[in-house]
Amino acid sequence: MKINLISMNVLVTGASRGIGRAISQYLGEAGATLAIHYNKNQEAAVELARMVGNASKVFQANLENPEECFTLFEEIEEKLGPVHVLVNNAGVAIKSPLDLPGQDWVEQWERTMRVNLTSVGLLCKAAVERFLTRSGGRIINIASRAAFRGDTSDYLAYAASKGGVVALTRSLARAYGKKGIKAFVVAPGFVRTDMAQEFFDTYGEEIALNDIALPELTEPDDVAPMVAFLASGMADHATGGTFDINAGSYVH
Ligand SMILES: NC(=O)c1ccc[n+]([C@@H]2O[C@H](COP(=O)([O-])OP(=O)(O)OC[C@H]3O[C@@H](n4cnc5c(N)ncnc54)[C@H](OP(=O)(O)O)[C@@H]3O)[C@@H](O)[C@H]2O)c1
Repeated sequence: MKINLISMNVLVTGASRGIGRAISQYLGEAGATLAIHYNKNQEAAVELARMVGNASKVFQANLENPEECFTLFEEIEEKLGPVHVLVNNAGVAIKSPLDLPGQDWVEQWERTMRVNLTSVGLLCKAAVERFLTRSGGRIINIASRAAFRGDTSDYLAYAASKGGVVALTRSLARAYGKKGIKAFVVAPGFVRTDMAQEFFDTYGEEIALNDIALPELTEPDDVAPMVAFLASGMADHATGGTFDINAGSYVH
């Protein structure tokens, strides 16, 4: 089976590092043209675009800001042409212990929601509006095992935001399936990235290893092929589905 994404434009948010970077590389190897989104790491994004080729381009936006979510999609379609697949991958995991002073806790909660959920909702809205005027499109939202299993008390907002992403994706699949729009959730467990490193620094890597069936932690490259498969159209009848990539957490 060969995944062919030639002549597909794919927006990957948070592509400068970690899982988003691995997804972009893999999609690029399958022939896709990437809109490589980044926030702060411009150099890494530019280097990735050069490596991926296929006339891929970089786009900056701080997804905490709704206005930047709106303009991101416009700018991409102006410079790259119609987006066929949206991969909402950018995210933050902000440690927010319950004993933080109330106002600080609320700030962390809201920041998490803005990046992990509101921006995903806004980019889905922008994509759906455009997909409806064409022959449809695909949306792949990166949630987390935390949406289903919950997280530690330090990451309540994170787990809640990812639960929101799952409900949002399922709603899109239900509402727009007959209009040619497919929406999928990919839900990783621990993946070795900067985000997970913060957790390992606090709780230790052993805790993650003890949680899974496989002997080693998931790497970003282990997540990317599933996204390419879903982007390709070969799994369209799985719309509304969640694809767990968590090294066997649920059977351990
Ligand atoms: N790693 C895990 O264990 C794990 C597990 C389950 C789910 N996930 C999910 O997988 C996705 C990718 O995670 P990762 O581990 O690859 O994270 P990561 O290594 O920390 O990278 C995060 C990416 O998101 C971007 N980003 C962060 N804040 C942003 C903002 N305000 N505006 C725009 N972009 C922003 C970053 O852009 P810049 O670097 O350019 O600033 C970066 O490209 C996230 O949705 C995460 O929740 C991760």
